[in-house]
Amino acid sequence: MRDGGPLGRAGLALLLMAAGAGARPRPAAPEDQPRRNVVLVACDSLDGRLTFFPGNQTVDLPSINFMKRHGTVFLNAYTNSPICCPSRAAMWSGLFTHLTESWNNFKGLDPDYVTWMDLMEKHGYRAQKFGKLDFTSGHHSVSNRVEAWTRDVNFLLRQEGRPMVKLTGHRKQFRVMEKDWQTTDKAINWIKEEAVNFTQPFVLYLGLNLPHPYPSPYAGENFGSSTFLTSPYWLEKVNYEAIKIPKWPSLSEMHPVDYYSSYTKNCTGEFTKEEVRNIRAFYYAMCAETDAMLGEIISALRDTGLLGKTIIIFTADHGELAMEHRQFYKMSMYEGSSHVPLLVMGPGVREQQQVPNVVSLVDIYPTMLDIARIPVPQNLSGYSLIPLLHEKSENEASPRGPRPSWVLSEFHGCNVNSSVYMLRTGKWKYITYSDGSSVLPQLFDLTADPDELTNVAIKFPVTAYSLDKLLHSIVNYPKVSSSVQEYNKQQFISWKQSLGQNYSNVIANLRWHQDWLKDRKKYENAIDKWLGDVDALLGIHYRC
Ligand SMILES: *[C@@H]1O[C@H](CO)[C@@H](O)[C@H](O)[C@H]1NC(C)=O
Ligand SMILES: *[C@@H]1O[C@H](CO)[C@@H](O)[C@H](O)[C@H]1NC(C)=O
Ligand SMILES: *[C@@H]1O[C@H](CO)[C@@H](O)[C@H](O)[C@H]1NC(C)=O
Ligand SMILES: *[C@@H]1O[C@H](CO)[C@@H](O)[C@H](O)[C@H]1NC(C)=O
Ligand SMILES: *[C@@H]1O[C@H](CO)[C@@H](O)[C@H](O)[C@H]1NC(C)=O
Ligand SMILES: *[C@@H]1O[C@H](CO)[C@@H](O)[C@H](O)[C@H]1NC(C)=O
Repeated sequence: MRDGGPLGRAGLALLLMAAGAGARPRPAAPEDQPRRNVVLVACDSLDGRLTFFPGNQTVDLPSINFMKRHGTVFLNAYTNSPICCPSRAAMWSGLFTHLTESWNNFKGLDPDYVTWMDLMEKHGYRAQKFGKLDFTSGHHSVSNRVEAWTRDVNFLLRQEGRPMVKLTGHRKQFRVMEKDWQTTDKAINWIKEEAVNFTQPFVLYLGLNLPHPYPSPYAGENFGSSTFLTSPYWLEKVNYEAIKIPKWPSLSEMHPVDYYSSYTKNCTGEFTKEEVRNIRAFYYAMCAETDAMLGEIISALRDTGLLGKTIIIFTADHGELAMEHRQFYKMSMYEGSSHVPLLVMGPGVREQQQVPNVVSLVDIYPTMLDIARIPVPQNLSGYSLIPLLHEKSENEASPRGPRPSWVLSEFHGCNVNSSVYMLRTGKWKYITYSDGSSVLPQLFDLTADPDELTNVAIKFPVTAYSLDKLLHSIVNYPKVSSSVQEYNKQQFISWKQSLGQNYSNVIANLRWHQDWLKDRKKYENAIDKWLGDVDALLGIHYRC
């Protein structure tokens, strides 16, 4: 964010390329040293901006601060797709979302996909996973997938419960998300009872559900999760004075795709400032509870003498808007949703370092291989983070050349009625939709406008144009968008066929039933029209 525009970055990249041309690629650790253990703690929905100033003023996160003191924090780390399964598919495969074709929460990697963990195991690591994984196909609710498939249908339905808060327990209660604590306990036991005596290096993954909001009981089982739940113990860690109340544009000024997101997330109604402040406070409290689980893992490594021999990585699959831009959840390219935490500490990792380079979750794959000294395949989307982490700053270049000065994020799932592509480089964030021309693109100057309230795409057409060109050189995005549309229709048609005569009842009673049941015919007709359009399109193709 410090250095100039994209041209400045590109220029720097060229210089680096020239300087690094003759440099030898350097392994993560010299050959004579043992290969390091790795622990990856990945939580769900933690806004990365809470790990550095000024976001870190809002809540006390002692374990993250510990990692910052003894390691490196990335100031510009992004998810490759701001929703669970596609993001995790990118992290476990090292590939961008248009390459994994993980279009929504229902469609991830094949169950036998070879992840970095599989490769590490094959190369002599002891490997263990605990908790939430969610990177393979076939999971999440029927509502969730049908909402994604039908996002091009010309209707607008509320799909989520209204975001709300709930206080539970007492002032000493720190185990609120019991399931995550049990998973953390298992990981700790594994460290203390097994890992401690391994003669080989190990890799441990801990997947947490927090700080993802909880289901809203009033809305029933088939609903999303819109309750921010915590105990007084965690709420006391939040600094209410530092909580910023986000500015909202009026409903008519919103970008049309944002309006669709806000509406389907049931956020277009009235919210008082107090309500918004509370949602944000409860969310931050949930982040504090997450931080405590990370702390337990660090303590277990210290107690067993493994801390000095283990690289710890902390990240999240995406962030949480917590009412920024009139939304909760993620599925958005705005910072609250797309900016993830990324902290690394351990042997060889520089202490108290803040890295401004843009990085993303596809970088985890090559980083893991680098740590394990496994050759990194040439065709990954990500780049190893090791050169950015090293204590000694030498001229380092991977065999593939320097890491690019941009990161890419994409979104193709529910609550957003168009495929979205985001390029982050220098101070700019460029967001474009669908085929690039039918929906207004967005450009934000994150230095001047960190809250992303002013779209300057029209004001800086040359920048917008050059970023669009760069994006086109990375991915033929109009083509990806239309193949997602095709996929959505096909999936919907086969689902509809599988239901036979029950179709009308089943579709009416999904998560959107409150709205749907008010005018069943209207919404079914909208679907028929959408499916009819496919037939018309296919007809044209056949004639060609
Ligand atoms: C927030 O982070 C900044 C640097 O990133 C640090 O100087 C400051 O002490 C932190 N504040 C808190 C409350 O942790
Ligand atoms: C949307 O929010 C309203 C309250 O504002 C609530 O009554 C309604 O049940 C919510 N809709 C859904 C689909 O949950
Ligand atoms: C680990 O090895 C040590 C020494 O060999 C032994 O005393 C200890 O019981 C072992 N720990 C476990 C959990 O097996
Ligand atoms: C998305 O939904 C909004 C709100 O209904 C609508 O104005 C906009 O045209 C839709 N965009 C696309 C690409 O369908
Ligand atoms: C990448 O290359 C490896 C062989 O090095 C191959 O097995 C794999 O399928 C390739 N992946 C992609 C996405 O091209
Ligand atoms: C339709 O619903 C009935 C009653 O729930 C069920 O027995 C039947 O198997 C369903 N048919 C299909 C095609 O799903």
